[in-house]
Amino acid sequence: MKQIQITEFGAPDVLQSIEAEIPEPQSHQVVIKVDAIGINPIDYKTRRGLGFVAEKAKSRLPWTPGYDVSGEIYSKGSAVTGWEVGQRVCGMVNFPLPAGAYSEYVVAIPEILASVPDSVNSEMAAALPLAGLTAWQGLYETGNLCSGQRVAVLAAAGGVGHIAAQLARHNGAQVWGTASTSHHDFLEELGIKPVDYHNEKSLSQLKDMDLVFDAVGGETGLQALDFLATGGTLVTLPTITAEQIVQAAKEQGKHARGYTVHPDAKQLQTLLDYVADKQLIINIQKRYPLADAAQAHAQLEKGHTRGKIILTV
Ligand SMILES: NC(=O)c1ccc[n+]([C@@H]2O[C@H](COP(=O)([O-])OP(=O)(O)OC[C@H]3O[C@@H](n4cnc5c(N)ncnc54)[C@H](OP(=O)(O)O)[C@@H]3O)[C@@H](O)[C@H]2O)c1
Repeated sequence: MKQIQITEFGAPDVLQSIEAEIPEPQSHQVVIKVDAIGINPIDYKTRRGLGFVAEKAKSRLPWTPGYDVSGEIYSKGSAVTGWEVGQRVCGMVNFPLPAGAYSEYVVAIPEILASVPDSVNSEMAAALPLAGLTAWQGLYETGNLCSGQRVAVLAAAGGVGHIAAQLARHNGAQVWGTASTSHHDFLEELGIKPVDYHNEKSLSQLKDMDLVFDAVGGETGLQALDFLATGGTLVTLPTITAEQIVQAAKEQGKHARGYTVHPDAKQLQTLLDYVADKQLIINIQKRYPLADAAQAHAQLEKGHTRGKIILTV
């Protein structure tokens, strides 16, 4: 089978295609024959040698990146019940390590998988897990979102942002989303009030927010503390700057929290049902063959994706 691996951290061209053996499942595992793979910023950050996964992966090189897969169960271990060979599944597999989703076949534990409804295609199912779970957990577990709240989603056109903004809206929140004007029609179609983050006047709409969902981090996250209402919460995603933002919030008598996504099959199944019911739209901006993972990374790293980029097998 074809698999992408890195033998060192660096630029996108460290992603090399190799031939590997199709894995055998252990008794509690399944092997998925992969149709599509979702890519996420954590994949390129780790490839560059940045962040908590790179810290752990550096002693495991060569290493295969990736978490989000959709496909069908190809084989299963003797102790696996409730899952059949041929069943369509998706999930955020082997997070945070060993990862390994950039492969034609991947091993997973079934506890983190969800069953893909017939009406959801493989590309959507691969694009959804990590971004969808991050959106869900940031809004409900970390942000304690309630109906009727005022919510600002920073980077609302991005992979996580476009899902978070839609979920918040479905939950009865009023939702503003920051993006360049080129994405404003897209946000309006999703029922999100667009805010141009390049324009001070447009940004001045963001005030008295009960929840700020910060998918940008750094200086942008720090400045977004000003958007909070008294008693509001800022939830920040990029782990690299989370501590700095939480600390700054404390010093200002405000409330900010970071978190790390975790697999949750029940949440993922609910998200898939929303996609099947067209209550949640997953925008796929671009597709690349698995062998072109380096090009896909170079594209995602530009930082201006609308929705998701996927690899196809
Ligand atoms: N803590 C966790 O567990 C966790 C989980 C998932 C993701 N993350 C992190 O969350 C971040 C977002 O992930 P993602 O998958 O959504 O990334 P993404 O899809 O690559 O985000 C791209 C979007 O960011 C927007 N953007 C860039 N700079 C912006 C700014 N200053 N203000 C507003 N929008 C801006 C772009 O809009 P324009 O084209 O308009 O610039 C684009 O639509 C990443 O840093 C990722 O590592 C953390």
